[in-house]
Amino acid sequence: MDLFHRRTPESRSRTRLLMVAGAAIATVAATITAATTAHAGTTLGSAAAEKGRYFGAAVAANKLSDSQYAGILDREFNTITPENEMKWDATEPSQNQFRYPGADQIVSHAQAHGMKVRGHTLLWHSQQPGWAQNLSGSALRSAMVNHVTQVATHFKGKIYAWDVANEAFADGASGARRDSNLQRTGNDWIEVAFRTARAADPGAKLCYNDYNTDGINAKSTGIYNMVRDFKSRGVPIDCVGFQSHLGTSMPGDYQANLQRFADLGVDVQITELDIEQGSNQANLYGSVTKACLAVSRCTGITVWGIRDSDSWRTGQNPLLFDNSGNKKAAYTAVLNALNAGGTTPPPSTTAPPSTTPPPSGSGCTASLSLQSWAGGFVANVRVTAGSTAINGWTVRITLPSGTVITGTWNAQASGSTGTVTFRNVDYNGQLGAGGSTDFGFQGTGVGPSGTPACTVG
Ligand code: XIL
Repeated sequence: MDLFHRRTPESRSRTRLLMVAGAAIATVAATITAATTAHAGTTLGSAAAEKGRYFGAAVAANKLSDSQYAGILDREFNTITPENEMKWDATEPSQNQFRYPGADQIVSHAQAHGMKVRGHTLLWHSQQPGWAQNLSGSALRSAMVNHVTQVATHFKGKIYAWDVANEAFADGASGARRDSNLQRTGNDWIEVAFRTARAADPGAKLCYNDYNTDGINAKSTGIYNMVRDFKSRGVPIDCVGFQSHLGTSMPGDYQANLQRFADLGVDVQITELDIEQGSNQANLYGSVTKACLAVSRCTGITVWGIRDSDSWRTGQNPLLFDNSGNKKAAYTAVLNALNAGGTTPPPSTTAPPSTTPPPSGSGCTASLSLQSWAGGFVANVRVTAGSTAINGWTVRITLPSGTVITGTWNAQASGSTGTVTFRNVDYNGQLGAGGSTDFGFQGTGVGPSGTPACTVG
């Protein structure tokens, strides 16, 4: 097998002079200049962009001060995934006390360099803070919903795609969910998480992410069935991430597996690519890249680190740059695959459908959507101005008896039981004619129902 089929990037421009003779009347000379440019990206990010994809890397905040590391990142990549900084243990080390030093640093770096951010990860059985590991039942369910809400709200508008749930399926032949404290709160925990994330950040794509899903096998089929079920019931899922931590081979049906998920109506992304060093490494990197390019809904590839020395797979040298930051043969294989012709760009990204009704009459209206489970709920309320602009709104909602609100976002609540008044906060009171904004709250007990009353001011 030709492992290093190098293709020199080239940019050509040709001028053709065509002399056209008109036989009957006169001789006409026409000069037609046809400039054709064969684009070839010279970096991973630019080459991927020419194919309508992104190329990303997992990044550690504490390495951004390493100039070699940051230099490669800024030159080659256009998407960042925080390697650990957005995980539960990092963002909520004590219950309901959120901190984002590393994550904010990475997001700022990405924004300063025009890069997208993949959020990783809202919920996972691993890297949970100790307090969450010790919770169960409805206490864990509420904590989980609160975590998703708070983190997704903190980064609202800044995240291209969230890994909402990570590694929730078991390895092996069962095709079933993995046992975990989250799973023991009820099989609906994943869909509750997706609905909660959508309510908090409607602009982010919401992904399910897992490993050992790189071919058609029992585990990937279990996930496939979940995604199909979610799509059929309107659970808001937009994408599936394939971690692709590969050894010295890859399944022959890698591309077919991506395609079957894409055919369900979700984007697919390669989210944590790294491939064990061996004689086949460059070839495999090229094959994975080609597989993504061959699937129109494969929107991008992320490698799980920059230099081999940055990898979590110590001693396996699984990345695209060596310990000194030099490009490896694997890098060239990826770049050449990205620059090869004949692919379909992915469809342009579409925002989640808006449910905003057209303005009718002055004043404001409010609509309520609810995700509930035994013992708790998350409510999302959309406030929409009527046919004239408004400056300030108030929404009144009556809670069933016994229900208690435990957290509110994007509004100021007057209390936590009975009839509660929610007023706008300083940044979301002004709405143009027909404009809308969302606020939300969560609580214990049975969630409210009906259409909330909205008044201006
Ligand atoms: C890894 C990080 O790379 C390590 O630094 C950390 O010690 C453990 O987690 N699947 C995932 C990633 O979804 O979050 C993991 O990242 C690698 C496996």
